[in-house]
Amino acid sequence: MTNTKIPFLDLIARSPLIFSNVITRVWRRLLEIPSRGFPTGVRKDSFDAQHGTNTSGIVWLTNLRSENFARGIRYEPCPPRTCEAAIEQAEIDPTQFYFIDVGCGKGRPLIIASRYGFQQLIGIEYSAALCQVAERNLAICKIENAKIIHTDATQFTFPRANTFAMFFHPFQDDILAVVLDRLRVATEGHKLVIAYTGDGKDLVARQAWLEPLRDPPNMRLFKRKPY
Ligand SMILES: C[S@@+](CC[C@H](N)C(=O)[O-])C[C@H]1O[C@@H](n2cnc3c(N)ncnc32)[C@H](O)[C@@H]1O
Repeated sequence: MTNTKIPFLDLIARSPLIFSNVITRVWRRLLEIPSRGFPTGVRKDSFDAQHGTNTSGIVWLTNLRSENFARGIRYEPCPPRTCEAAIEQAEIDPTQFYFIDVGCGKGRPLIIASRYGFQQLIGIEYSAALCQVAERNLAICKIENAKIIHTDATQFTFPRANTFAMFFHPFQDDILAVVLDRLRVATEGHKLVIAYTGDGKDLVARQAWLEPLRDPPNMRLFKRKPY
């Protein structure tokens, strides 16, 4: 009897984690359709048309080599108005704050934040390919006070500075817990605002050292409790 292999089934058998991750992501995206609409697959949206950048589209296989890949969310850009409203409702003077996008993808929130005069803009991203795209986008927009750090968010050492930290659907709760703790320690004695969108909002809300600030559209804002 010949041993006929069906390539697709063979791939599933060899990579069950990746397969179950893809199924989970498809299912979660289906559940998000009411709040986020259907994925369009459109390569250039109006933000990119206006800026000459490449920030649109969905990228699923962001970093297959990372042990945290199965807990990371695919790349999809934040709607500009969501990011703008979060910054505008944060009750901060941006010139006294760092803007850090945790899981920055192609860098759209950094481009938006650059209009508000933040001291420094930092994007953290574990996909090398997305980091390159983000750097190109920053260069196209001639943004000089921004840097992209290619690392897993669980490894990043946050600066000791007043911080506006943005999380737009970056990863699952176990990773979020690690990152929040690093953020808590690094920003002790400084002001911190967290803008959060994603499934982990209850985990953020449970942090005893944070308190709710505002609920702009599609985001929740939290701030560090005063000492
Ligand atoms: C939904 S996208 C958001 C992109 C960007 N913040 C925005 O709003 O346009 C989530 C991003 O988080 C990145 N990511 C997921 N897990 C990560 C991790 N552990 N460390 C760093 N980046 C991560 C993904 O590669 C993806 O680019």
